[in-house]
Amino acid sequence: MKFIKKLILRTLLRSIGKTYDGTGLSQKDAYNTPILLFSEWFRQSLKETPDQVNIMTVSTVSEDGSPSSRLVLLKHFDENGFVFYTNYNSRKARELSSNPKVSLNFWWEQFFRQVRIEGSAVKVSEKESDDYFQTRDRGSQLGAWASAQSQVIESRDILEKKVAAIEKKYEGTEIRRPPHWGGYRIVPEKIEFWQGRLNRLHDRFLYTKKEDGSWQKDRLSP
Ligand SMILES: Cc1cc2nc3c(=O)[nH]c(=O)nc-3n(C[C@H](O)[C@H](O)[C@H](O)COP(=O)(O)O)c2cc1C
Repeated sequence: MKFIKKLILRTLLRSIGKTYDGTGLSQKDAYNTPILLFSEWFRQSLKETPDQVNIMTVSTVSEDGSPSSRLVLLKHFDENGFVFYTNYNSRKARELSSNPKVSLNFWWEQFFRQVRIEGSAVKVSEKESDDYFQTRDRGSQLGAWASAQSQVIESRDILEKKVAAIEKKYEGTEIRRPPHWGGYRIVPEKIEFWQGRLNRLHDRFLYTKKEDGSWQKDRLSP
C-alpha cells in the first residue's frame, strides 16, 4: 500500500508541469535601470494579485555557510533598495549581522515572472522604522513586543499572556516601536528578471551594478 502511494505521488509529481507562455521580454523592454522594470512588473502584478504581490523569499547565510530561506513582506522599494521589517534578534537578523549578503526572490505567477535580487542588508534608520511601525495595526504592534521571534517558547499560552500584559501596560496610549524591531534595506548588486516563455525558452535579463553606479544588462540563456 505504502509502495503504491509512493508510486502514485512520484508519477503525479513528474506529470505536474506548466506551460509558460508569457509575453516576451526584449532588450528594448528592459530599461537601463532595473528598478524601472521592477516597478513596472510590480504594478502589473499589483493589479492582478494585490494581496500577494509583495510576498518575497529572503535567503540568508549563517556564519558556518548554511543558507536558510523564509517569506517576508516587501514594504517599500526605490532605487536605494528593498525594505522589509522584522525582529532584530530573529534568526535571519543574527545571520545578517555576521553576513549581510542576502538573496530575495519574487514569483508573480499570473505573468510567469520571477525576479531574483542579490545584495547586502543594512538596517533602515530608526526614524524610518518608527514611521512604519506607527502605520501598523495595534494587534501587530503588540505582537512585535510580545514575540521573541525565532526563540523556543514552551506554549502558546505563554505568548498570549505576554500579549495581554503588554496590552494592559499600553492601555489608552500609543505603542512605541520596540528597539528589537525594525527594517532592513537590501541594497541590490544584481537583479535578474525571468519571463517564462513557451518550450522553456524563457527570457532572462541580468542587471549587474558597476563601480560607477550604472548597471550592466546581459541576456542569459534560459
Ligand atoms: C506570507 C508571509 C509573510 C511574512 N512576512 C513576514 C515579515 O514581513 N516579517 C517577518 O519577520 N516575518 C514574516 N513572516 C514570517 C517569516 O516567514 C519567518 O517565519 C519569521 O520571520 C522568522 O524567521 P527566522 O526565524 O528565519 O528569522 C511571514 C511569513 C509568511 C508566510
